[in-house]
Amino acid sequence: MGVQLSGRAWMRTRRALLAATAGLLAGLAGASAPAAAPGNGAVLTVDTGKTGATIDPNIYGQFVEHLGRGVYEGIWVGPDSPIPNVRGIRSDVVAALRQVKVPVIRWPGGCFADGYHWRDGIGPAAQRPAGINAAWDKSAETNAFGTHEYMDFLDQIGAKAFVSVNVGSGSVREADDWMRYMTAPADSQPGKERAANGHAAPWAVPFIGVGNESWGCGGNMTADTYATAFRHYAAFLRAYSGERAKLIAVGADTDDYEWTEKVMAQAMKWRPNPTPLAYNTERPLMWGLSLHFYSFAGNDWRNKGRNIGFGTDQWASALARAHLTDELIRRHAAIMDRYDPKKQVAIAVDEWGAWFDSEKDAPSQLYLESTLRDAVIAGMSLNIFNNHADRVRMANVAQMVNVIQSLVLTQGAKMVVTPTWHVFDLYKVHQNATMIPVDVQAPDYVEGAVRLPGLSVSASKDAAGALHLSIVNLDPAAARPVRIDLKGGAWRKASARTLTAATIDTRIRFEGADPFVPGPLPARLTQGQVALTLPSKSVTLVTVE
Ligand code: AHR
Repeated sequence: MGVQLSGRAWMRTRRALLAATAGLLAGLAGASAPAAAPGNGAVLTVDTGKTGATIDPNIYGQFVEHLGRGVYEGIWVGPDSPIPNVRGIRSDVVAALRQVKVPVIRWPGGCFADGYHWRDGIGPAAQRPAGINAAWDKSAETNAFGTHEYMDFLDQIGAKAFVSVNVGSGSVREADDWMRYMTAPADSQPGKERAANGHAAPWAVPFIGVGNESWGCGGNMTADTYATAFRHYAAFLRAYSGERAKLIAVGADTDDYEWTEKVMAQAMKWRPNPTPLAYNTERPLMWGLSLHFYSFAGNDWRNKGRNIGFGTDQWASALARAHLTDELIRRHAAIMDRYDPKKQVAIAVDEWGAWFDSEKDAPSQLYLESTLRDAVIAGMSLNIFNNHADRVRMANVAQMVNVIQSLVLTQGAKMVVTPTWHVFDLYKVHQNATMIPVDVQAPDYVEGAVRLPGLSVSASKDAAGALHLSIVNLDPAAARPVRIDLKGGAWRKASARTLTAATIDTRIRFEGADPFVPGPLPARLTQGQVALTLPSKSVTLVTVE
């Protein structure tokens, strides 16, 4: 972990989280004042000689589900639409997503995945069955967007495939048939069928999600039942050409540590308890174990807080929940360390994001207008993932277009990029860079019973040697002077860009100028120190060369 709080500050943060997120954490005692930075300012110390893991670009992954207008209208408008498109996929959305370098897209769900039968989504469009989206509102599912359209979308964006197969209501046979259809050579029977449907060459499917939320909408399974199911699927799921497919097992919902314990114990290894002379291999059955976690105000899923028109109390409690991501990763990773000390199995946070209550007149299911708070939550979450790059090697924000914390919103022919998109755009420099630990000394952000580290920070060094620090100032009212002490390296210049807005709930609109475009922020470099002042409620990227 790169951001190092003193032991006392950490205890204090945890105690605040207890108050802010009652019921999620337990048993923390004792607290005292954190080691404060001088005055009102913060000091960040970066020793560029100390390097961490490579930040996997897939941490900047996305998630698309058949839900609301996430696929239909958001991505797929059909080839006959007046909205500019390439083979039915809208061009404005593709252009926006190309810009932020989307590495991987998880599809088709979500809860939708465990009711999805892939054969419904291949073949001539007119002959595809009119289906029902059982997972979401029993809405109409035209199946116009299926495997070929998803792969075309990936191609247009330049992203890799992450397909979630149906475990809940499907079968090993159905999932294997899908893998054959997508990846078998052109001269095989499944390859010939694929070619007859318009694509002779096999596609690459580097990631397979083996079910989704199998503890809930994906099958109501216990950890023991799922571990058995995963082992069964893992025996048959493979790519029939190209690189070996990486299997991602269903991991815990939030703080279900028992799930992690049981799935790691029973399903991580090819043979959990090999006899001395029996065949065995060190290679884990799974490439990754997922984690799902959403941020909202409070802890009641039936009352997640307002998305707009909220006060600083809900700002703080949502940020407290986002901050909890760090605790969750630490604790799940600590369990995984016992079974997998070499960290071969990744944590794939394949659903994360801000999820507030939708407005009553929302145009589609789980639609949220994006606000500044989303940008701050994205900045904090991505910093946490970067800082855990040794274990977190995949993350997929939920969801890419028109659903929950989106990067892009559409309204008929109109499209806007969201504050979250701007954060992904600022942070793309971290992709494939080397994580650098940062010591952070900063005043806490305090709001009622919530006390959080005032700044969220991560840093990395890219292939060209440039240092990038992404810094979130959580405080909705106070600007923060910051001094960055650079140890090691000879630095010539520093620059910064920052994203903020007039109010904590400033939202994106389809009319007028984008209020979230990051602007330049003065950053002074003198003798290995960078000085700048972060605006309140902001996400800033500092680059030092
Ligand atoms: O992202 C929305 C839903 O949240 C997904 O379908 C499900 O996996 C999760 O509960």
